[in-house]
Amino acid sequence: MVLTGMAQKTISIATKSNVLILETDKDNSVISTYIGRKLDNDDEYSAIQQLDKYVPGSDDLFNKREAYIASGSLNLLEPALSVTHADGNKSTVLEFLSVDEKQIDPNRKLTVVHLKDPKYNFEVALNYLAYFKEDVIEQWAEIKHQEKGAIVLNKYASANLTLSGKKFFLKNHYSGWGREMRSEEQQLLHGIKTIDSKLGTRENLLNSSSFMVSVDRPATEDQGDVIAGSLEWTGNFKLDFETFDEYYLRITAGINNFPSDYTLKPGENFVTPRLVYTYSSNGRGQASRNLQNWARSYQLREGSGERLSILNNWETTYFDFNDEKLSSLILDTKKLGVDVFLLDDGWFGNKYPRNNATGGLGDWQYNRQKLKNGISTLGKEATAAGVKFGIWLEPEMVNPKSELYENHPDWIIRQPERREYYMRNQLVLDLTNPKVQDFVYQTVDDIFKEVPELGFIKWDCNSLIYNANSPTLKNQGSFYVDYVRGLNKVLERIRKKYPKTPMMLCAGGGSRVDYAALQYFTEFWPSDNTNPFDRIFIQWEYSYYFPSIAMDNHITAMGSQPLKFKTDVAMMGKLGYDVKVNELSPKDLSFSQNAVAVYNSIKDIIWHGQQYRLQDPYENSVASVAYVNEQQTTAIVFNYYVSTLISPAITIPIKLKGLDASKKYKIEEINQYPGSRSYIDKDKVYSGDFLMKIGFNPQVDARRTSVVLKVTAI
Ligand code: GLA
Repeated sequence: MVLTGMAQKTISIATKSNVLILETDKDNSVISTYIGRKLDNDDEYSAIQQLDKYVPGSDDLFNKREAYIASGSLNLLEPALSVTHADGNKSTVLEFLSVDEKQIDPNRKLTVVHLKDPKYNFEVALNYLAYFKEDVIEQWAEIKHQEKGAIVLNKYASANLTLSGKKFFLKNHYSGWGREMRSEEQQLLHGIKTIDSKLGTRENLLNSSSFMVSVDRPATEDQGDVIAGSLEWTGNFKLDFETFDEYYLRITAGINNFPSDYTLKPGENFVTPRLVYTYSSNGRGQASRNLQNWARSYQLREGSGERLSILNNWETTYFDFNDEKLSSLILDTKKLGVDVFLLDDGWFGNKYPRNNATGGLGDWQYNRQKLKNGISTLGKEATAAGVKFGIWLEPEMVNPKSELYENHPDWIIRQPERREYYMRNQLVLDLTNPKVQDFVYQTVDDIFKEVPELGFIKWDCNSLIYNANSPTLKNQGSFYVDYVRGLNKVLERIRKKYPKTPMMLCAGGGSRVDYAALQYFTEFWPSDNTNPFDRIFIQWEYSYYFPSIAMDNHITAMGSQPLKFKTDVAMMGKLGYDVKVNELSPKDLSFSQNAVAVYNSIKDIIWHGQQYRLQDPYENSVASVAYVNEQQTTAIVFNYYVSTLISPAITIPIKLKGLDASKKYKIEEINQYPGSRSYIDKDKVYSGDFLMKIGFNPQVDARRTSVVLKVTAI
């Protein structure tokens, strides 16, 4: 359907429970009048605009609720778009031109609102892709022009969202190595609160590009109006939260325009990354389930598929291994019962052997000293042992001590006239350069050729970008954008040839966790911190945006908690191991083998079920999280003792969620340590109604620090 012309229009972008209303005003601007719960009558949306203070014709036009604010004319708040036109003029006005609506399939509808500058041959198309069932919208902009010469995009956000309310509360996440996704919540007072990244790669090292904003009061798990969003961009981002006047908040999200003035030639199309967001009037829990459901069905690689469990050698060998050691680890993988042996860092480099983090990065030939039989033999050994073989790569990077550095100095991001700065002794390759893109692609392709059995890749990224400068790029203004596009091109090529191989996204832990990258990756490494106590919090926070099927949780030597506790925490996602299997006591080994079998029997629910946070670890001595299958016939409930003081642990029952009130359930404890006794009566029957209104006591305390329950309908 195409609607054109000047008459006032109401464009409604609807999902199952919510709606985003766009309208033209009498200046022919497109105003975003409402985002929130749907009204019963569609014809009442047009009544909203008149009730708003910023009606056309008022004195306060400078901040009217435009759907996408361009700078230099009427609207004087933080813009989404700022342009230097071909003639040097810096003012842009966007007027409504037309709207296209396309029902892609029964669940997805794309609405494209075309805007045009009345003076310049300059257009912006606002794209809204609505996912009905999931209550999710993806929004992005496409910018193009036919001016006499090139223009410069000084700012080019993906989306502007305007919310009205009495108060606004931002829940954002800050990180550092080993302490990813720490959460804070603050009232947004007047002015602009910016969360951004200028790090180039590892964009989430300091801040997450995912966020939640509650309206009127901080949302709780099950109550309150909240918007949850995440920018789909594997690079510098900028999220602005601007509170203005009494009752308004404008969220502007997109690529960080600093320092990235982007030159756009006539006829070229600049497509911004997508901002994905969901609105929930039932608190944060619903918002997170919406995003998780969307991701599994539409965004995450193999989101509704299967995953492989891993034995990784990193924390047990570090760089110190040889064929013999690896051969025995392959056998241990089988013994443990997991699916893949993942060979981590340290297997490559000859002139500069990768025996520590100071050299070899970039020289992707197996180290002939350590691996006399080569990596192809390891692939064969794994197959013979009945497991898969996976490998670690960090193909965007180079150590100065490498042949790659010696042979291709022009492939490296640096300022040749300045001192080099390193993070983890390394530099970043210049992925804006097509030759480097070919090299990175070839690195991966060659390994597949060498090890045809290759069944898993861990793709790491341990350095951010210092001295940003491409030796070959003509216009350095596009450097950061072109880097990400170069990376995407490589990943696109790899996925075209190898669509199915699982790939783990890692960046010195979780410094690169975004939904653009997760189109290519099946999972991510949330943190190098695998202490299970810390992990409860880290996994809890990631889960507001990312489904558990995407989270690699490994049992390691980190943390002094019992193996059972570590295992239960790792099960709340994709279970894996980084332990010395041959040093496990017979009891620990038998527990672990059994745990893998238990996990295999419940993983479908953890990966594909609905997640409910029952009791949070910040305010309680017991944390509790449940996963419920679609039919509401089975729930897996993880309970962990998280008190650091001597406390009586839980005294009142924990209320379950997501069950069917009319069904009857039995509860049994699973994944017990050999010889331990359960206090749970597995024959007692409860109604779903009872379990959700009264709850259940999992009997967690300082001696029983973790309890996994299986709730089954009878
Ligand atoms: C990063 C990753 C680790 C490991 C090392 C190897 O730190 O996060 O899991 O792969 O690199 O050097």
